[in-house]
Amino acid sequence: MTQAPGASRLVAFCVFFVFAGFALTQAARADDAAVKRGEYLFAAAGCAGCHTDVDGKGPPLAGGRKLKTPFGTFYSANITRDPEHGIGDWTDADFIRALREGIAPDGSHYFPAFPYPTFTKIRDADLKDIRAYIFSLPPVAKRNQSHDIDPPFGWRPLIAGWKLLFFAPGPFAANPDRDETWNRGAYLVEALGHCGECHTPRNALGALKCDEAFSGTLDGPEGGRIPNITPDADTGIGRWSDGDIKSLFTMGMLPDGDFVGSGMAEVVENTTSKLTDADRDAIIVYLRSLPPLSKRIESAK
Ligand code: HEC
Ligand code: HEC
Repeated sequence: MTQAPGASRLVAFCVFFVFAGFALTQAARADDAAVKRGEYLFAAAGCAGCHTDVDGKGPPLAGGRKLKTPFGTFYSANITRDPEHGIGDWTDADFIRALREGIAPDGSHYFPAFPYPTFTKIRDADLKDIRAYIFSLPPVAKRNQSHDIDPPFGWRPLIAGWKLLFFAPGPFAANPDRDETWNRGAYLVEALGHCGECHTPRNALGALKCDEAFSGTLDGPEGGRIPNITPDADTGIGRWSDGDIKSLFTMGMLPDGDFVGSGMAEVVENTTSKLTDADRDAIIVYLRSLPPLSKRIESAK
């Protein structure tokens, strides 16, 4: 009438294994999905450019890329999962705090040459997926190079004061008065794509001048000329057709047949060419909704 205790234990054992196996496969699938989503978001956020020493032919994401600013030269960090030189021992919480608040695991402040004042708007779920993608890539044991900043700007505790003045942390909040496409475009431009980090002029302390957002500057990264991308017809991109903007985003071609150079060539390669058509369209919708600002950025071309 009763089963031998050994047999029921065996059944329980097998049932456990089937379920454990099932749970593990599900977890692995969830991880794969996170890595896939993270790969796309990572491209949309253009992390690769700054974190790869392209000129020195350095390995991907191992840092050391020079970023010249009016305050001195910064070198990007190794963000591979190498535990010693990279971020291999970081948790999701460490990663979110770095991008949301500009604070390192040891509590020190990051320089805003790392565009966390913009990346703060990336949502938690997306940040976790970006970390999952970075952690799926090979580690690189390459030591970080220290920055070469003019005093007193190189003193990290000063950044706390800068943040009080110019930094508003917090994820992107959708505008309920706008549709889904507009909100997607806003998120891609204002959070992930960090377009304003180059296209918006800065004040003397390096903070973005929000009332002149996207109106361009002669003092862009590397001292370059950055065009006005507001919809002003004469000085911005108001006269560009959707097709003109799409050609730029997919292959870097300007309406006059020339190709973009410098920073934008990299944005096209790493970011806009890798987006879906729907996301490129959403960016166009959002750019067209910006207040047109009349400001001519004298062409050096
Ligand atoms: C405009 C260039 C630039 C872009 C774009 C950029 N970073 Fe960085 N990042 C930096 C610089 C510079 C630092 C070093 C900051 C410091 O030392 O205070 C840094 C530091 C970091 C750190 C801290 C590393 C450490 O060891 O403490 C992480 C993590 C990071 N970036 C991740 C990212 C991710 C993820 C993206 C894309 C969403 C990204 N970065 C895009 C320039 C950039
Ligand atoms: C690393 C700095 C940088 C970032 C980030 C950046 N841009 Fe640019 N952008 C430039 C530069 C530099 C040019 C001018 C390139 C040239 O003419 O050779 C440019 C040109 C453009 C143009 C052409 C305007 C014209 O009048 O020729 C458009 C449109 C544009 N960017 C949109 C964007 C959008 C949208 C984003 C965000 C997804 C973005 N950019 C992010 C640096 C940047």
